Amino acid sequence: MASTSFLLLHVLVMFSLANIVFSDLSDDFYDDICPQALPTIKRVVEDAISQERRMGASLLRLHFHDCFVNGCDASILLDQTSTIDSEKTARANNNSARGFEVIDRIKSEVDKVCGRPVISCADILAVAARDSVVALHGPTWEVELGRRDSTTASRTTANNDIPTPLMDLPALIDNFKKQGLDEEDLVALSGGHTLGFAQCFTFRNRIYNETNNIDSTFASQRQANCPRSGGDSNLASLDPTSALFDSKYFSNLVSKKGLLHSDQALFSGGETDELVKTYSTNLRTFSKDFAKSMIKMGNIKPLTGNEGQIRIDCRRVN
Ligand code: HEM
Ligand SMILES: *[C@@H]1O[C@H](CO)[C@@H](O)[C@H](O)[C@H]1NC(C)=O
Ligand SMILES: *[C@@H]1O[C@H](CO)[C@@H](O)[C@H](O)[C@H]1NC(C)=O
Repeated sequence: MASTSFLLLHVLVMFSLANIVFSDLSDDFYDDICPQALPTIKRVVEDAISQERRMGASLLRLHFHDCFVNGCDASILLDQTSTIDSEKTARANNNSARGFEVIDRIKSEVDKVCGRPVISCADILAVAARDSVVALHGPTWEVELGRRDSTTASRTTANNDIPTPLMDLPALIDNFKKQGLDEEDLVALSGGHTLGFAQCFTFRNRIYNETNNIDSTFASQRQANCPRSGGDSNLASLDPTSALFDSKYFSNLVSKKGLLHSDQALFSGGETDELVKTYSTNLRTFSKDFAKSMIKMGNIKPLTGNEGQIRIDCRRVN
């Protein structure tokens, strides 16, 4: 009797461990229902990037901002209504998150090629992020699929859970930990800043007020296009090669040329310095870790089975 219940307990423990380690998602989810789905996403992403190089960065960021707010459930795509508390106007997203039209285009082309709405908006975000990184010469990975779309959104949660560019290392570590991501994930995923741009208001305090841990020539150069007041939306690239996935983001941090306070926080005498140094001279290691952490981020609290829905229009609940 005792041994039977012990065995049962053992089996239960194994199952719950398995649930932590393995997600409910699978990389072949659409292979039978719509084999043309993934190639269609890739085609539209490549086309969008050829029209505007920055779009790859913007699509990568959309997936991140989706996943950090109640999981990867496409909540970021919902427009404001009387019942939807849209995340689009949350601090980190308002006049900043972009690429929504590209997602709309992907959704309509994919539904057309599949003959019906079978692919979720949350999966489209995950695949578009991967295809963007690949298009900009970064690593590839198998995207786990089968996420479903939320029927709610939360601006408050977006305000609370998306990290801010003013955070120090302990706050960043804590923020990622709340999502089940560790320090290595934090450093690898921050490497997403090898792509894209930031607006003046996000780094103004750093280039005018910080003296430690900023290269003074770099600060003056950035000041030229980011005045003390005004020019809030003027852009600066997050690393010197904004449309190329490389290790310059990290070598820049080592030279105290991180654009955001939160970027430089990863190399400022704390426990992540060593990993930043490693990535700064080792693109292969960065690429491998980035891919691994992207899969982990993509697995944050997905809706599966009968949860949520497959939206017809990514901006609206069915
Ligand atoms: C670690 C905490 C992070 C903070 C505090 C942060 C903050 C920011 C800020 C302030 C911007 C500029 C937005 C603007 O000026 O409009 C930005 C841009 C960007 N972020 Fe992050 N970010 C973080 C992590 C990540 C992660 C994990 C990824 C993806 C893996 C990512 C991908 C991007 C990309 C690609 C851009 C450029 C977007 C574009 O040009 O449209 N970021 N981030
Ligand atoms: C978002 O930005 C618009 C300007 O485009 C502004 O009018 C609005 O107040 C902002 N919303 C929030 C919630 O900050
Ligand atoms: C620099 O810091 C001071 C004091 O915190 C603040 O009042 C000022 O606005 C900051 N300047 C810039 C350009 O951010």
